[in-house]
Amino acid sequence: MYSDKVLDHFKNPRNMGEMKDADACGEYGNPICGDLMFIYIKVDRRNGKDIINDISFQTFGCAAAIATSSMITELAKGKTLEEAKTITRDDIANSLGGLPPQKLHCSNLAADALHDAIEKYYSKKEPQ
Ligand code: FES
Repeated sequence: MYSDKVLDHFKNPRNMGEMKDADACGEYGNPICGDLMFIYIKVDRRNGKDIINDISFQTFGCAAAIATSSMITELAKGKTLEEAKTITRDDIANSLGGLPPQKLHCSNLAADALHDAIEKYYSKKEPQ
């Protein structure tokens, strides 16, 4: 069974939609179920720190994938990129009051898509 929090984030997703002027877009697909997620970030430099000023998502996936996308946007907003990089799938699942065991893998999408967005932001800023 899904927790009330999962159902709330599924029914009323926060920060959903494409961000046209994003500084970076992370992408992650689940090879098993084929679900796909995009995370967009807008970054501001304040006091020498890169801060996620805005974040949004697009998810083509199950209820758990949508709820975890929504939750990760709340967890990452206002954090520095370094802090956001440390958000794990367990953090997301715990913040949602847990996920059914067979749905735990769905929270990988959100964590990996966010980490991909952060890596892309850094590689855009400092081309190798
Ligand atoms: Fe694919 Fe949940 S079943 S992410």
